[in-house]
Amino acid sequence: MRALFVMDPLSTVHPDKDSSYVLMLEWQKRGGEVWHCLPGDLSVRGDELFAKASRLQVGPRPKVADVMEEAVIGSKSCRAIFKRTDPPFDIGYIFCTYMLDVAAKHCTVVNAPHALRDANEKMVILRFPDLIVPTLVTLDVTAIKAFLAEQGGRAVVKPWDGNGGRGIFVLDSDDKNLNSLLETSTMLGTEHVMVQAYIPEISEGDKRVILVDGVPRGAFLRVPPPDDHRGNMHVGARVEACELSERDLEICSQLAPYLQQNGLIFTGIDIIGPYLTEVNVTSPTGLQECASLYGTDLGAELIDAVLKRSS
Ligand SMILES: Nc1ncnc2c1ncn2[C@@H]1O[C@H](COP(=O)(O)OP(=O)(O)O)[C@@H](O)[C@H]1O
Ligand SMILES: [Mg+2]
Repeated sequence: MRALFVMDPLSTVHPDKDSSYVLMLEWQKRGGEVWHCLPGDLSVRGDELFAKASRLQVGPRPKVADVMEEAVIGSKSCRAIFKRTDPPFDIGYIFCTYMLDVAAKHCTVVNAPHALRDANEKMVILRFPDLIVPTLVTLDVTAIKAFLAEQGGRAVVKPWDGNGGRGIFVLDSDDKNLNSLLETSTMLGTEHVMVQAYIPEISEGDKRVILVDGVPRGAFLRVPPPDDHRGNMHVGARVEACELSERDLEICSQLAPYLQQNGLIFTGIDIIGPYLTEVNVTSPTGLQECASLYGTDLGAELIDAVLKRSS
C-alpha cells in the first residue's frame, strides 16, 4: 500500500503544525509506504505518472523523516497521491494538475486534480449565492467605489489567488488612501479582485470547518489579533474551540454534493458570521488544531475516507 506525497521540501515541514505530516504518519501507521517528491520530480509517459521520489520513515516527533530509499515510482503502483504543496496557485500549479489527471485514472488523488483546477478557493463561493455576503468581482475601480457606497461605506478587497490573508484590505469610503489602495489592488485597473461587504462578526473570529469527504468533522475559530483585522493563523490569529451552529451545518450540507461529486475529500471552509467566505481545497490545514482542542483524530478519518474511495 503505497502513497506518494507531492509536497514542498521536507525541510519546510513543521511536525507540530502541518496537516501533511499527520497524513504521512497515519498512512505509515496503517502499514503503508510513504513516498515524497516535489512537483518538479513528476513526469508522464504514456498513461502513467512517474515520480523521482524518496521513501520515508516518518517521525517520531520532533523528527520529520528519514529517507530510506530513492527510486522512480509509477502511479500504477500507488493507492493514493496527496497533492500538498503550499501556494502559489499559479500556472505551474495548474500544469501539475494535468499530470495528476493521468494518475487519477488508476489511483485516488487528494484532492482530485480536475477539482483543484475548477474550485478556485475564492471564486468557488459564487456557486453558492445563498451562502455568501454581497460580492463583486471586477477590475473597475469606479465600480468598486459604487459597490462600497451601496454597502454603507465599508467593504473588503481581496486578490482572487491569495491565501493566509495576503493582500486583504478593509476599505472605508472616507479613507484618503482609498484610490491609491484600489489602484494597487487592481494593478491600475488591470487585475480582477473580489470585493465583499464587510462582515462585522469577524471580531468574534473566522471559523474554519474541516470536512472529510463533504462531512463536517471539526471546527475552530481564528480570532484576529488586536492589531490586525485578519483572522488568519499566519498573521497571529488566536485559535479557539467552537461549536457548529445551525447555519454552519446548513452551509456544509449545501456544499456537500459539490465536494463529494468532485473528489474534494479534504477541504477546509471559512465561515464569518452567517456567511461562507472561502473553500480551501489546495492544501487545507487544521488537523493538529482539532487534535489539540478536542483530542479528535481527523488524520485517521481522512485516511479512512481515502482508503474507502480507493478500495
Ligand atoms: N467579507 C469579509 N468581511 C470581513 N472580513 C473579511 C471578509 N473577507 C475576508 N475577511 C478577512 O480576511 C481574512 C482572510 O479572508 P479569506 O477570504 O479567508 O482569505 P485567505 O485566503 O487569505 O484566508 C478573514 O479571516 C477576515 O479577517
Ligand atoms: Mg481563509
